[in-house]
Amino acid sequence: MAELLDRLIRDHKHLLRVLDLLDDLLDRFHAGDEPDYELLCEMVEYMESYADQVHHPNEEDIFDRLRARTNERYPVLDQLTDQHLLLSRINKRFRQSLEGIVHEEVLRRDQVELQGRELVKTLREHLDLEERAAFPLARERLSASDWEELHPPASSDEDPLWGEAGQRRFQSLLRHLAERDRA
Ligand SMILES: [Fe+2]
Ligand SMILES: [Fe+2]
Repeated sequence: MAELLDRLIRDHKHLLRVLDLLDDLLDRFHAGDEPDYELLCEMVEYMESYADQVHHPNEEDIFDRLRARTNERYPVLDQLTDQHLLLSRINKRFRQSLEGIVHEEVLRRDQVELQGRELVKTLREHLDLEERAAFPLARERLSASDWEELHPPASSDEDPLWGEAGQRRFQSLLRHLAERDRA
């Protein structure tokens, strides 16, 4: 039935691993280390190209269907929709800052760290709220035909990090995730 929901939950597990790694990098950055910008840029690219462009829009389709199902208002869904917009702005701003550093613009380290921390905090809280409030609601309220009509993910929508293309596109990120698992 809710194959889409299973995929979204799997995405959350992957996103949390990336956030744990980002947390480690920000700790090292805070301690004065020069961060690995290639790795940070890959992380943000993954967030923008998959979380913002595939994962969250898939959730919006579910939220819209829930809203259409009943006249009941679901403030939590509106809150999550607002967070989707906010997360995309946070990702974009963090990417611009990282690109600025790569192009040797002068940026304050504490500001860059703050942006990274905001991304980790906001996304963690968001994933948690979805799993606690929105996904159970969807499981309960949507019918088998709702799930059927919520298109199964197209192959182009697959998580790019774990596919064959990811091996080239997210080389550094995959290597660091594997190293973190071994540590
Ligand atoms: Fe979401
Ligand atoms: Fe999500």
